[in-house]
Amino acid sequence: MRMVDVIDAKRNGQTLTDDQLQFFVDGVVDGSIPDYQVSALLMAIYFQGMTSQEQTSLTMKMMNSGEHLDLSRIPGIKVDKHSTGGVGDKVSLPLAAMVAATGIPVPMISGRGLGHTGGTLDKLEAIPGFKVEISEEDFIDQVAKEKLAIVGATGEVAPADKKIYGLRDVTDTVDSIPLIASSIMSKKIASGTDALVIDVKTGAGAFMKTLDQSRDLAHALVNIGKQAGLQCMAVISDMNQPLGNKVGNSLEIEESIDVLKGKGPADLTELVLTLGSHMVVMGGKAQTPAEARQLLEQTIADGTALDRFKAMVVAQGGDPRVIDDYTVMPQAKYQIPYRAKRDGILSKLSADEVGTASMLLGGGRQQADDQLDYSVGIELHHKLGDRVKAGDPLLTIYSNQQKIPAVEKLLDESIAISDHYEKPQLIHEIIK
Ligand code: URA
Repeated sequence: MRMVDVIDAKRNGQTLTDDQLQFFVDGVVDGSIPDYQVSALLMAIYFQGMTSQEQTSLTMKMMNSGEHLDLSRIPGIKVDKHSTGGVGDKVSLPLAAMVAATGIPVPMISGRGLGHTGGTLDKLEAIPGFKVEISEEDFIDQVAKEKLAIVGATGEVAPADKKIYGLRDVTDTVDSIPLIASSIMSKKIASGTDALVIDVKTGAGAFMKTLDQSRDLAHALVNIGKQAGLQCMAVISDMNQPLGNKVGNSLEIEESIDVLKGKGPADLTELVLTLGSHMVVMGGKAQTPAEARQLLEQTIADGTALDRFKAMVVAQGGDPRVIDDYTVMPQAKYQIPYRAKRDGILSKLSADEVGTASMLLGGGRQQADDQLDYSVGIELHHKLGDRVKAGDPLLTIYSNQQKIPAVEKLLDESIAISDHYEKPQLIHEIIK
């Protein structure tokens, strides 16, 4: 087979065969296909798209290019969640604990953050001693015993995706739905879960800015999941403003524990309950999302979800005092108020820029090897649609520097107060 013929087929709008896709993925991994030909095919896919069968076939071949976990030793239906990423998105932390408290095993393989705020693993590392790198065997043992673990990938997962993603980044082919969907699902399927709920973010602070694009991505992800034999569904949720009230690593751990104590912010709690309800139905512990929701609410009321979170912290070497004393995590030296400049309704609180502001404070990475400052971040005192008065504190900036002009300038650009504005809807659609 010649790569030029594979490119030619896709350039002319043909459907690639299994053999052609296998040839492509093998050649990416062993380096026999040069980057310029890989890039040419990526651009052809970008313009011509892929059928749902092609997307599944590419996903499975990328998944098989690396290591995958066998979780069959863990009894029960294993359920996981994936998010396409957003600012203040700490959902995985309370969600894993609540679903685990209903008796469903939750094996979560998460990532770190780049460009914005920290990822789930970075947040967990704000807890002193917490280890996210544990062996595959310990991961499986922990999920079997405690019903949950949140860790980084142990082996080399989907190396074909790693190479392809690097080339997409420099050839402006990142925002192709077949390429995004196959990239995400190759890694999720490799994690060995039986069921998956995907939180597809939509809005100014999301990868997909419009509801139409988000819906297309959600359908592509769910189709691949189902064709690969997983129970799979997606929730499209809003990312025009940060989720919850806290952005930053220690701050997001605090807020996650607050959810488990029944004191979490309304939007975050609602999203956790929505995603969790579907996970509990897929895990076989309830017949309907409404019944599942009651079970999840009960895990907060009776403390069993908090207990699961604590068990995970202990099992992964973290300091369990964090549950009752948030100051065991790094604390910022200064708390600087950011005030409303006029009376009116908060009409813009750009998730992207609040994330970038947190990164500038040191809470996120600009380069892959940047060290994070867990203590810094931003607390929101108001959300979109709230009525505010000039001089009201809108945010508190947690910083280790007293003067932060660049952060304040960025926040000036990311916040607007108007005379009319309607609160955005949190949950847009459920895709099954
Ligand atoms: N996340 C991924 O893992 N892959 C993409 O292509 C986009 C987001």
